[in-house]
Amino acid sequence: MNDRFLRALRRETVDCTPVWFMRQAGRYMPEYRAIRAKYTLLEICKQPEVTAEVTLQPMRLGVDACILFADILLPLDPMGCPFSFEKGEGPVLHKPIRQVSDVDDLRLIDPRESLGYVLEGIRLSKKELAGKLPLIGFAGAPFTLASYLLEGGKSTHFLKTKRFMIEHPEAWNRLMTKLSTVVTDLLLAQIDAGADAVQLFDSWVGQLSPYDYTTYVLPHVQGIFAKLKERNVPTIHFGTGTATLLEHMAKADSSALGLDWRMPFAQGWDLIGHDRACQGNLDPCMLFAPQDKLFAATDRILAEANGRAGHVFNVGHGILPETDPGVVKALVDHVHEASKR
Ligand code: CP3
Repeated sequence: MNDRFLRALRRETVDCTPVWFMRQAGRYMPEYRAIRAKYTLLEICKQPEVTAEVTLQPMRLGVDACILFADILLPLDPMGCPFSFEKGEGPVLHKPIRQVSDVDDLRLIDPRESLGYVLEGIRLSKKELAGKLPLIGFAGAPFTLASYLLEGGKSTHFLKTKRFMIEHPEAWNRLMTKLSTVVTDLLLAQIDAGADAVQLFDSWVGQLSPYDYTTYVLPHVQGIFAKLKERNVPTIHFGTGTATLLEHMAKADSSALGLDWRMPFAQGWDLIGHDRACQGNLDPCMLFAPQDKLFAATDRILAEANGRAGHVFNVGHGILPETDPGVVKALVDHVHEASKR
């Protein structure tokens, strides 16, 4: 197996820096759009054969890991909060949380029963990968999931989420505890199904002040990573807008932290400590720049990583749908070439 991704997460020596991309399977790839023409996003997720096919599509770009094709919102439906993806709007939750009693109505699920298709997608992807590349499993972090449950969809100010958190701290705690239980069980089940590493996406947590983060979120995330430690599988903790939160996020025991592009890579790694692996952090918009500028930005990140064991190259947030797959392939080759030990 090409294991430089797993080796980097364990901070072992590598022949060159491993690279994968958040949202590497998706609309920017013509072969993904061909499948999307036949199935909705949820239909892709719920048919393990199709899930596995899409999961493996980015292999032709030369990436060092595949990430399971799924969505962080999938557990919410069996918990009692159905949703759909509306064109141009993103996710829409049909029964958002409006009052305290809605939290208590949320069901605790057994992912092995109600999300069996996700686990089957992992088993099938692993089989088709045939040991060539590691497979990453993932879940949404409790804050990001709670924000969808409370806002009912995407949000700018996260006002409903923050009001609930501040006005009903006990119900907030129950909500985060329920979500953490489901997320932990789901990630453990993904590991048991064959995931070689798992990433927790706290995409919108950068909306919080450091005080609110450490008060209302961190203890829950710490609990998740403590339980994941029971399996011997590397873990990645990712968020965006986290410059002032990183030192606190580092108190949750993940193998690696993922950085967005808003802070220099070296500064982010200093904050979390060099005893942890670090993933990132190219601005996904740089994939639209002339190639010399794209490579120069990439080289700056590699220089800041300084050849230290533990760097996983990635974008600072998902690849944008308008990205040229040819540019992604050229970037992968460049990272490998420029970082050769
Ligand atoms: O390649 C991969 O990274 C794996 C696939 C993946 C998807 N969603 C498929 C998807 C992953 C890792 C996710 C995670 C996810 N989903 C996150 C966390 C990562 C992030 O980007 O911050 C979030 C916040 C979601 C929720 C979500 N799902 C949104 C906001 C949207 C709509 C956004 C849009 O671009 O339309 C989705 C839909 C979605 N999930 C798409 C994909 C490929 C695009 C829709 C499509 O193909 O029709």
